[in-house]
Amino acid sequence: MGGILIVEDDDSLSRLLESKLRRKGYKVEAVRSGEEAVQLLTTKSYDVALLDIRLSDMSGLDLLRELSPKIPTKFIVITGYGDVNTAVEAMKAGASDFIQKPFSFDMLEVSLRRVLKEKRLEEENKALKSFLFERDTEITFETKSPAFRNVLEIVRNAALSDVSVLLRGETGTGKEVMARYIHRLSERRDKPFVVVDCAAIPEHLFESELFGHEKGAYTGASHKKLGLVELADGGTLFLDEIGEIPLPVQAKLLRFVETRRFRRVGGLSEIKVDVRIISATNRDLMEMVKRGEFRSDLLYRINIMEVEIPPLRERREDIPLLAELFLKKYRKKVKPQTLSLLKSYSWPGNIRELRNVIERACLLSKGEYVDEHLCLPPSQREETCLEDMFSEMPSLQELELMYVGYLYRKFKSADRVAQVLGCSRRTVFRKLKELRERNGDLEKASFSGRAPDVN
Ligand SMILES: Nc1ncnc2c1ncn2[C@@H]1O[C@H](COP(=O)(O)OP(=O)(O)OP(=O)(O)O)[C@@H](O)[C@H]1O
Ligand SMILES: [Mg+2]
Repeated sequence: MGGILIVEDDDSLSRLLESKLRRKGYKVEAVRSGEEAVQLLTTKSYDVALLDIRLSDMSGLDLLRELSPKIPTKFIVITGYGDVNTAVEAMKAGASDFIQKPFSFDMLEVSLRRVLKEKRLEEENKALKSFLFERDTEITFETKSPAFRNVLEIVRNAALSDVSVLLRGETGTGKEVMARYIHRLSERRDKPFVVVDCAAIPEHLFESELFGHEKGAYTGASHKKLGLVELADGGTLFLDEIGEIPLPVQAKLLRFVETRRFRRVGGLSEIKVDVRIISATNRDLMEMVKRGEFRSDLLYRINIMEVEIPPLRERREDIPLLAELFLKKYRKKVKPQTLSLLKSYSWPGNIRELRNVIERACLLSKGEYVDEHLCLPPSQREETCLEDMFSEMPSLQELELMYVGYLYRKFKSADRVAQVLGCSRRTVFRKLKELRERNGDLEKASFSGRAPDVN
């Protein structure tokens, strides 16, 4: 798949281009006629076609008009010297670029590089769009963080090859999101992406979940069942939380990872599948190897390429970006000081936690802006709330009154308050009276709401 198709009827030029491009590491095929070109372009997918506009059996321009809207291949047309009008026509017909004979190889390469880059970006965009649609959630790979940009670079390169990737990172950093992204950018994008949630499968079911079973393989196996690896054939197998796989299962998995062959439980014949393996873990597998909890041979097979996804606190510059993204869905805004607050928190639950906190704040905030105190995760929220309440350092007696007032506003019933406090109704009335008398002072002490009017 991919590569360059040269469509040029001048034999010597064609050979020259072919060998020069090959030497530069491009995958190249060459044809001499329009007819052969149509045949190949409609059955295989090339990245770029170098198309001579004057072919002996048909007009390259017609070929371009006919095929360019239908296939993803990009066209660079080769026109005769001074043939400006044809070049313009070709561009109108969908060519990405043109070069005029005679041209230097360097000129051609500059054009090729540009067109290939354009194609790759288009593909990435397309992949990203379908990805967004699939997840029905907002995902962004925009970043201001050098650390994360580096990760994206590695991941995008990995996507182009078929190597096994191990994604490491704390919970909520986006390992699964990243695995799907790799799949979407790879040539396997139209094939299945199958998740094996290793933490959720009980040990005795692992083998049949992964490899399937034949009818009658064991009691209860009333029909044949395909395993996850078979369902992933042609696509990507995502081994999530791979550190949770029990040792005996690791041995079976190792054999599969090495050979891509397996037997269904109760089956005799070996089945071969073509899958790309991506694994993820938030555990230190090297450490587990040392403790004898994870097989080193399995680790070396799955981490051909290892990608460490940084925790959110190590890419704080992206917090505003992500926050805005999550806010957009609810059409809410955030004040600059709230953003600073979000940026200062350490986010142990990473992007997932940020998203949850923001969604909750959006749902609970009434106005156009989200309330700042809602933008803190629960543990911090409590702390801030206490901070607010205690900042004036109330005495125990004042605290007691604040609490009684709070309960009374909540229940609007002295009986209920008495019940909660475990005291008599009379005591409640007495406290409320006292509260009303001190109301002015307490309001100053940031105690919101008037004391109830009780006589
Ligand atoms: N690039 C991103 N853009 C926007 N949101 C993201 C991104 N990455 C992750 N998220 C959010 O974080 C959530 C968690 O991501 P994901 O499930 O991929 O994390 P994980 O690393 O697999 O976590 P765990 O270890 O807990 O399984 C996603 O559902 C999504 O809401
Ligand atoms: Mg996950």
